[in-house]
Amino acid sequence: MHSNEIRSRFLAFFKARGHAVLPSAPLVPQNDPSVLFTTAGMQPLVPYLLGQTHPAGVRLCNVQKCVRTGDLDDIGDNRHLSFFEMMGNWSLGDYFKKEAISWSYEFLTSKEEGLGLDPQRLYVTVFEGNEDAGEDTEAQEIWKSLGVPESRIYKLGVDDNWWSPGENGPCGPDSEMFYDLTDAGMGELSKEEFLSAVSREDLVEIWNDVFMEYEKKDGKVVGKLAKKNVDTGAGLERITAVMQGKKTAYDTDLFAPLFAKIAELAKEDTVSAKRIVADHIRSSVFMISDGVLPANSARGYILRRLLRRAVRYSDMLGMPAGSLSVLAQVVIEQYTTAHPDLATQKQTIVKEIEGEETKFRQTLERGMKEFERGEDPFVLFTTYGFPFELTLELAKEIGREIDVADFTAKMKLHQDSSRTASAGMFKGGLANHNEKTLRLHTAHHLLLAALQEVLGPSVVQKGSNITEERLRIDFAFDRKMTDEEKKKVEDIVNQKITESLPVCKKEMPKEEAQSLGAQMEFGAKYGDVVSVYFIGNPDQTAFSKEFCGGPHVNNTNELGTFKIQKEEASSAGIRRIKAVLE
Ligand code: SER
Repeated sequence: MHSNEIRSRFLAFFKARGHAVLPSAPLVPQNDPSVLFTTAGMQPLVPYLLGQTHPAGVRLCNVQKCVRTGDLDDIGDNRHLSFFEMMGNWSLGDYFKKEAISWSYEFLTSKEEGLGLDPQRLYVTVFEGNEDAGEDTEAQEIWKSLGVPESRIYKLGVDDNWWSPGENGPCGPDSEMFYDLTDAGMGELSKEEFLSAVSREDLVEIWNDVFMEYEKKDGKVVGKLAKKNVDTGAGLERITAVMQGKKTAYDTDLFAPLFAKIAELAKEDTVSAKRIVADHIRSSVFMISDGVLPANSARGYILRRLLRRAVRYSDMLGMPAGSLSVLAQVVIEQYTTAHPDLATQKQTIVKEIEGEETKFRQTLERGMKEFERGEDPFVLFTTYGFPFELTLELAKEIGREIDVADFTAKMKLHQDSSRTASAGMFKGGLANHNEKTLRLHTAHHLLLAALQEVLGPSVVQKGSNITEERLRIDFAFDRKMTDEEKKKVEDIVNQKITESLPVCKKEMPKEEAQSLGAQMEFGAKYGDVVSVYFIGNPDQTAFSKEFCGGPHVNNTNELGTFKIQKEEASSAGIRRIKAVLE
């Protein structure tokens, strides 16, 4: 059965059972700052699962585009995909376990209306119970009434059979369905055998029915929702693999046109590299069609990473430059039936992918020059975007030693600071102390540069202090600032915040930093090699350049709104500003 047929059968099946068919929501969540991308079919429906009335009614279904990029390094194996589609049906306080489970079973096994899968190859799990909710005997009984023997119903705990979209939101116990992919069929399995068959991928999870009647806050189940809801999700890629007798979605019609084109263009035939290129190009096409563009922060950064990885792996396959946009067109053509907006976005998608590939190739070229000059691999990576694995490969070719431990240590520091920074952003203001000071620290740099722009270059820093509440800067200036000047400074800082400027660090000899015009705190002592933080381009043209050990956020768009609270005299010829981020 072709994947297009699976999609349409799913929707027709639930439509016939009173469900409104919704279009897929965009990959970019519309009103949910807690996630960068739609990662589950239910995500766009969270407000309705929490009680809001949905205009289309109480029974809904769709095929939702999803992106998960948490484990990019695993892509290339049989199971991981960064882009996938989730078929789902929902009840908003309407039907509950009986209908949900019966319909799942019917769709999976019915030859006429569903997939006609073999009931003898089906295994299910239900929630075993804990302090939040009891054992799901109701779900067990429903499965048994449908003819699934008790010996194939396994009870598992919260890690397996409790589903929530994150630390907050609607949640509940679930019941998962697994399908036997072995040639002979495994028949009866003990719980241990079942679990080991799942980990061997002889059994694959194909559907999850979540009985959403609880709510989570800050990771804890806090009580029941006003209504009992159903949220089900069946991964199209997995089901297609099952229906086409394959172990992996990569061997189905969903990937066939892409692999055919890759085979035409490539010189090598490395399975994992081909899968990575194909996977990343799918995600990229759909992200761009939903308005994401390559950038240095948040969503745009994830897209950029995917595209750059795709370039690297297409190089490994010996594909000619420019191949990615050719592959993008294959995806667009293939998916236009299911996602018509791809056709209207075609030009933008192709142009963006072409542009990013070209840009990355320039980056690689520049990085190559710096590599030849012996630049530190960490600087190559953070400043020039030059991939570390490439540094290692090149070093090996010419017999240069690379200190991997040093690179890893520097990266760890770097990532810790960026992780805390972006975690702060996505928790919506619930930043911890570190995150707040990190942001204020970056705002401090912007403020100094803005002061110099408004009051003149003679403004030098004389002191600073940052707490989790506010920043404080002392600077040389001989009179009170006017209200207009303060307003101007504020506006400039906020302007730079909205410009989403990258923040990056470079290590260099002190003389070089001085010749770039990097600011140093008056009276402070610096070593021969200093680190300089750039906000904007990592060169002389940066908006702010300061001698500084960091850490900082990765991008000014993580800062919020800047506000000067107070401007006063600190001592003779020295003014003091206290400012906050809101
Ligand atoms: N939300 C559940 C999942 O993603 C069911 O759709 O598995």
